[in-house]
Amino acid sequence: MLDIHKIRAEFPILSQKINGKPLVYFDNGATSQKPQIVIDAISKYYTEINANIHRGVHTLSQMATDAYEVSRKKIQQHINAKHAHEVIFTSGTTHSINAVANGFTSSLKAGDEVLVSALEHHSNIVPWQMLCERTGATLKVIPMNQDGELIQSEYEKLLSTNTKIVAVNHISNALGTINPIAEMIQKAHTVGAAILIDGAQAVPHLKPDVQKLDCDFYVFSGHKICGPTGTGILYGKEAWLNKLPPYQGGGEMIATVTFEKTTYADLPHKFEAGTPNIAGGIVLGTAIDYLNNIGFENIAEYEHLLLEYATQKLLEIDGLKIFGTAKQKTSVISFNIEGIHPYDIGTIIDKKGIAVRTGHHCAQPIMDFYKIPGTIRASFAFYNTKEEIDIMVDAIQKAKAMLI
Ligand code: ALA
Repeated sequence: MLDIHKIRAEFPILSQKINGKPLVYFDNGATSQKPQIVIDAISKYYTEINANIHRGVHTLSQMATDAYEVSRKKIQQHINAKHAHEVIFTSGTTHSINAVANGFTSSLKAGDEVLVSALEHHSNIVPWQMLCERTGATLKVIPMNQDGELIQSEYEKLLSTNTKIVAVNHISNALGTINPIAEMIQKAHTVGAAILIDGAQAVPHLKPDVQKLDCDFYVFSGHKICGPTGTGILYGKEAWLNKLPPYQGGGEMIATVTFEKTTYADLPHKFEAGTPNIAGGIVLGTAIDYLNNIGFENIAEYEHLLLEYATQKLLEIDGLKIFGTAKQKTSVISFNIEGIHPYDIGTIIDKKGIAVRTGHHCAQPIMDFYKIPGTIRASFAFYNTKEEIDIMVDAIQKAKAMLI
């Protein structure tokens, strides 16, 4: 089991007061807090080795390049990619998805189909809609049931040889549903479709094995796993990354440039135009080391206890309804209280130092499905506690008494 007291002491922000009350941070789905080791690593980079990478022969540039490439290897090992050059640094999940969706432009035509799911975040819908607008391909949607699970028999019906790519999240940001992606990947491959997994909400809770999963692309953000904002990863199988054209043109992604023609650099540089977030990329490796030292099995087990405890406590509140009751769920609870707008609860409990997300969570189609304007979302991390859940439940009871 985790030593929560020790872990909490490693996150300086958790001892802050917000509106005069101890911070209760339950907005981990939006971004995670950062441990001191990550904060220090950012400072150390700028204090000791700041230089541009892959460009200079001078010592600092080589030190920065080495640290960046060491981090790439750590991420390769973390997700079990076959090659380090299959790991592309991006600015986040959104950038990664856009890079892949743009890469498919020249290979799609009218009659081709792109499948997304009803559970997607806008960032895994809009880039595919834009791709379909550019190419004449059709966007199709894998439907969900009332529990917030994807209907697998409908997915099977939608798959055909017209399906060129499937884009689905590993875990829903709005409901916490864990999708059966191993089976979904295998089914996509039976019709010859590529499949991209949006792992943004999964990587804080589990360690994906991209070779075992056999996904073509797996994308995630660094800021949700204790790393800096503006960092992300696009994992792609070597064959796919070689096939797709680069997303952006610029320095460092070229082999040769003349005014007549440019040839592109080898992987991973082909997808890394311009000076990247060097500090961020290096420190993402520090964050991953930090989490691996705690251990993802320990994290998942503890977060599951928090999920069960919070679910039981919240359901004791009259009129409270949880959206997202999938059998496989991570530590995210979306809920509403009858007759009260989610925003009002969020605003009142913020005054007590409690941070939750309210609204549509960048997943409007899910809210439309349930015919609600939005929800209150409490998303827990390994540094949260049952005592914090009690504080939130008490604050919600009091807010409810004020509002009704
Ligand atoms: N995608 C992030 C969330 O779900 C921002 O809150």
